[in-house]
Order: sequence, then structure tokens, then C-alpha cells
Amino acid sequence: MTAKLKLALVGCGAIARYHLDGINKYAPRIEITAAIDPDMSRAEGYAAETGAIAFPTLAQALQHADFDAVDIMVPHHLHEELVIMAFAAGKHVLLEKPMAPTIDACQRILDAAAQARTQFPGLVFMVAENAQYWPEIVLAKELIDEGAIGDIITARASFAMELPPYFFEDETAWRFSKAKAGGGIAIDGGSHWIRPLRMWMGEIKEVMGVLGNPLPQMEGESMVRSLVRFESGKVATFEALMAEAVMAPQPWWRINGTKGEIVIEEGLENGALLLYNAENRNGLRVAEPLGYANSFGPELRDFAHVVLDGAEPAADAAYALGELRTALALYRSAESGQWESVWD
Ligand SMILES: NC(=O)c1ccc[n+]([C@@H]2O[C@H](COP(=O)([O-])OP(=O)(O)OC[C@H]3O[C@@H](n4cnc5c(N)ncnc54)[C@H](O)[C@@H]3O)[C@@H](O)[C@H]2O)c1
Repeated sequence: MTAKLKLALVGCGAIARYHLDGINKYAPRIEITAAIDPDMSRAEGYAAETGAIAFPTLAQALQHADFDAVDIMVPHHLHEELVIMAFAAGKHVLLEKPMAPTIDACQRILDAAAQARTQFPGLVFMVAENAQYWPEIVLAKELIDEGAIGDIITARASFAMELPPYFFEDETAWRFSKAKAGGGIAIDGGSHWIRPLRMWMGEIKEVMGVLGNPLPQMEGESMVRSLVRFESGKVATFEALMAEAVMAPQPWWRINGTKGEIVIEEGLENGALLLYNAENRNGLRVAEPLGYANSFGPELRDFAHVVLDGAEPAADAAYALGELRTALALYRSAESGQWESVWD
């Protein structure tokens, strides 16, 4: 298939680097034709690298540039306005997670997508939850489905990270504002730890948790300790911690089954998967580690496949409400001290 997907990068900040590296490595059918950011030095940097044209706003790019799809990578409170503008122009949309900071805003986005499809049949809307394509997460799912660790008993998801520079690179530091981000690390990076739990263990029914604020500059939570109960009745733990402190390496994932255990070590560019079972008592390193950074390319490649070939996406947009709803239920639980339902 030689058709190319002409794509506009909307927001040329921290995650745009990962998206572009992923496109270069995994998605040769994508051609970047516009790079958009009110910070024109950023837009121009990406334009120079890709041969695209730089614009300060999506509105101007829609008037003057040639593209079929947008890849929206802006602060959470700006998602709704830009995605709805793109739908109105008939552009396919890949939108960084979370879909929006509130369920009401998500519903408006989903309604706008449905409305746009009446005018533009086949319009694609995907939420970029890259954990769906994270090589070790996908491999763990395959192993679980093959029965390598028997039936899952429980899992531990632990996201722990020293405050990364990109959190405050932008002078507006939107992630420190609850109003802009919608919360703290559960609604943001936490989603990449919640999605795999859903991929492996099914839908989440309810959560109970406590929140903490070790990062004083962040209004939202920078620590989560929680229990996650699935429709199946099984329970996992979800922990998250961000602090201005050095942290020792620790597994990001442990999945215990009736016959063994899968461990996924921490790693943006590595993060080995180890399988422990009767045949592998000392742990088998199942494949060369690829790590979190190698999830973005397959995500962009899937988006191109869906748009160009009419394929089904690995997960539809509404499925991404599950991570947001889990985070919002955690916030309610921290207030009520009770289990809180994710879907009611
Ligand atoms: N999947 C992941 O692992 C991951 C990691 C980081 C961020 N993200 C998501 O990506 C999105 C962006 O996060 P980031 O870390 O890149 O933020 P960032 O602050 O580094 O970059 C955002 C960029 O958007 C630009 N921008 C602001 N308003 C704009 C507008 N109206 N039109 C176009 N551009 C505009 C800003 O100038 C900035 O360059 C968020 O949804 C975030 O949750 C995902």
C-alpha cells in the first residue's frame, strides 16, 4: 500500500518528540505536512526536521496547509476545542490521552465525532493511549493468553519516577494546575499503568485509594496508593509516585498467576520482561527489551492503518474513558474513604 497519510502535528512539545521518533522508525506511510504550535520556535523546529510548514494555530493551518489528519498533543484543557475544530474540518484525529479532563467534556467530544461522521463518513477518531502498543505489555498479554502463568491471581502496577524536566519546561507549567490538567499523576501518566491492567484483567469495577502531595508545586496528587477491583472480583494494586528525589529501580509491573509470575522491569528504552514458572524458575528474559518509548511508533502506524486501510483500531476512542474514569473514581475515593464505582 503506497498511499501516504498527510499529518499535522498539533502541539510540538515534549511528547511530540516521541511521536515523531516513532513515525520515523515505525510508520513510513505518514508524511508530516504541518507543524503547529503558538511557540513558533517549536513549530519551526519540527517543520525544518520534517519538511512541513509551521503555523502558530490550527485554524491557520486548516486554511493554508494540506493534511488529512491531526495528531493533537497539547495540554489537557485545550483538547476539546482543538479536536472539535479538527472534526468540523473533516480531519481524522489522533488525540493524546486523556480525551479531556472531565467526563462531560469527553461526551461532548464523542458527540462531535458522531456528528462529524454524518458529514464525513469514515472519519477516524483515536485516543493515543500508547500503553496499548507498549511492546512488553503486548507480550505479557500474549503470554497470559497462552497460559504461561496460569490464571491471574493479582497484579501490581507501580509507576515511580523522579520529576522529569518536561513537567516544567513550558513556562505555564500546565501540569501543576489542577484546572488545566484535571488532576495529578493518576489522570496523566497513571493512565499508562491503568490501561495494561484492563488489557490483562478485564474491566475495572471499583477502586479505593489515598492520594498524597510530595511535590508541593503540583496542585494535583503526586502520590497514589490504591486497590483496583475488577468485574471478575480480582484485585490489583495501582501505585504512582513522582517526587524530586532519586529513586531506586523497581519493577513497573508484577503479574502473579496460579502457575508463575511475569515481571516487567522499569525502562523507557529497555524494561525487560521476565517470565517465572516451573520451566523457568530463575526467570526467562523472553525477548530483547524495547521499552515504553517504542510504543509510540506502533501507535502511529496503527492510526495510519486505520485511516488508510479502514482497519479496526487496537482500541476504540470510548475505551479510553476507562482510565479517566478510574482516576476520577480514585479522587472520589480519597475524599470518601470508600470504594468508588468507576462506571456509575
Ligand atoms: N503518552 C505519553 O506517554 C505522554 C507523555 C507526555 C505527555 N502526554 C500527553 O501529551 C499531551 C501534551 O503533553 P506534553 O508533555 O507534550 O506537553 P508540553 O507542554 O511539553 O507540550 C505541549 C505543547 O502544546 C503547545 N500548545 C499549547 N496550546 C496550543 C494550541 N492551541 N495549538 C497548538 N499547540 C499548542 C505548547 O506550546 C507546547 O509546545 C498531553 O495530553 C499529555 O497528557 C502523553
